[in-house]
Amino acid sequence: MKRITVLISGSGSNLEALINSCISKKISGEVVSVISNNPKAYGLTRAKKFNINTNIIDHRLFLNREDFDMKLEGFLEELDSDLIILAGFMRVLGKKITTKFVNKMINLHPSLLPSYPGLNTHNQVLKNNDKLHGISIHYVSPELDKGPLIAQGIIKVNPNEKEESLVSRIHKIEHILLPDIVNQICLGNIYLEGNEVIYKNIESLDRGIIRKYYEI
Ligand code: GRF
Repeated sequence: MKRITVLISGSGSNLEALINSCISKKISGEVVSVISNNPKAYGLTRAKKFNINTNIIDHRLFLNREDFDMKLEGFLEELDSDLIILAGFMRVLGKKITTKFVNKMINLHPSLLPSYPGLNTHNQVLKNNDKLHGISIHYVSPELDKGPLIAQGIIKVNPNEKEESLVSRIHKIEHILLPDIVNQICLGNIYLEGNEVIYKNIESLDRGIIRKYYEI
């Protein structure tokens, strides 16, 4: 059984989807710890409901990013999890910590990377009249939202769609695809070798990664 740590900053709906998937054995792993940089994150309440160990590392109490990263690195070293998932974790992590956990840290990002790294992705999709939107799951590298891609979930943007609707549809596909991919990683079917994502027993890849289209 793989040991999973989830990093959050806010609502934690993806965290809850991961916990539920572990409980129902859709993921061959267990969420052993949740870390939040935001003491008020609702995800902490969700974790406590399942009696999962929570830790707060409030970034506002640190003088600089390096000190915050160092504290987080210490926690993660102690936890010694098999997989660290950034699910709605809104802090940029530096080179030292991302290099240290390079093979075991993945991030969920609400856009079809390389389009729209950073914030306000839904807004940008609407502003540019994009036909497609989606999510990316990737290994974390020191460059923001640029690590090796593992999978993307894709939806069509509806005519005249509003941001709230996109946010809600994106959440729905996140709650399906993220647990799926996490399970494949836990089973050893997806891993990182150097800079390359290796897939085993995965039926079909599309341009080198897992790409799924959703009618949601
Ligand atoms: C998700 O849409 C994730 O892609 C983005 O922030 C959101 C977090 O949602 N980075 P939640 O906290 O898991 O509900």
